[in-house]
Amino acid sequence: MTVRLVGISGSLRKASFNTALLRAAAERKPAGVELVEATIHGIPLYDADIEAEDGIPEAVTRLKDLLAGADGVILFTPEYNNSLPGVFKNAIDWMSRPAADIPRVFGGKPFAITGASPGNFGTLLSQEAWLPVMHTLGTVPWFGSKLMVSRAGSVFENGAIVDEATGRRLADFIAGFAAFVADIRRRDESRIG
Ligand SMILES: Cc1cc2nc3c(=O)[nH]c(=O)nc-3n(C[C@H](O)[C@H](O)[C@H](O)COP(=O)(O)O)c2cc1C
Repeated sequence: MTVRLVGISGSLRKASFNTALLRAAAERKPAGVELVEATIHGIPLYDADIEAEDGIPEAVTRLKDLLAGADGVILFTPEYNNSLPGVFKNAIDWMSRPAADIPRVFGGKPFAITGASPGNFGTLLSQEAWLPVMHTLGTVPWFGSKLMVSRAGSVFENGAIVDEATGRRLADFIAGFAAFVADIRRRDESRIG
C-alpha cells in the first residue's frame, strides 16, 4: 500500500524555511510513502463577490482536488505575531468553499502540523492556533508527536537541512504520521469491506 500525503507550505517566500522543511520531509519520507509538495501561490484574497461572480479560482480547485485524493495532509506553517499567517489561513478558507465540499476535502482526513521559524519557539503558537480550524473542518488531527523547528537560520543552509538532529526528528515525524495515516486507511478499507 502506498500512503499518499500532501504537504502544503504556508509561505510564499522563495527562501522560505517552511518550504525548505517540506522539501526536506519529502527527501526523508519512509518507503511506501508519497509526499506531494503543494503551494499556496496563485490564490487570491478571499472575496465572496469573486466567488459569486467567477466561482472558485483554479489554484484553489487544484489544491482541493489534491487534498481530496490524499490519505493525509501536513501543514508546514510559519508563525506570525504568535499565531498562524493570514496568507495560509486565506488559502484554507478558500479551500473550504463551497461549504458543501468540506467533507470531500477535509472531512475525516488525517492532518499533521509542523513549522519552522528563526525564533526560539519554532512555531509552537502557530501550530496551536491551527487547531480550532482543523476542528471546524472535521479533520482528524495527529497528536502523536510535535515538531517545532526553532532557530531555523542555523538549521538550513541554501534550503537544505544541515542540522542532522533536526533531520532525524523530521524523519521520525513523517514516519509517525504516515503510520497513523496507514492505520486509518486500513480501518476505513476494512469497514467498506
Ligand atoms: C509579520 C511577521 C510576524 C512574525 N511573527 C513571528 C512570531 O510571532 N514568531 C516567530 O517565531 N516568528 C515570527 N516572525 C518571523 C518568521 O518566523 C520568519 O519571517 C520566517 O522566516 C517565516 O517563515 P518562512 O521562512 O517559511 O517564510 C514573523 C515575521 C513576520 C513577517
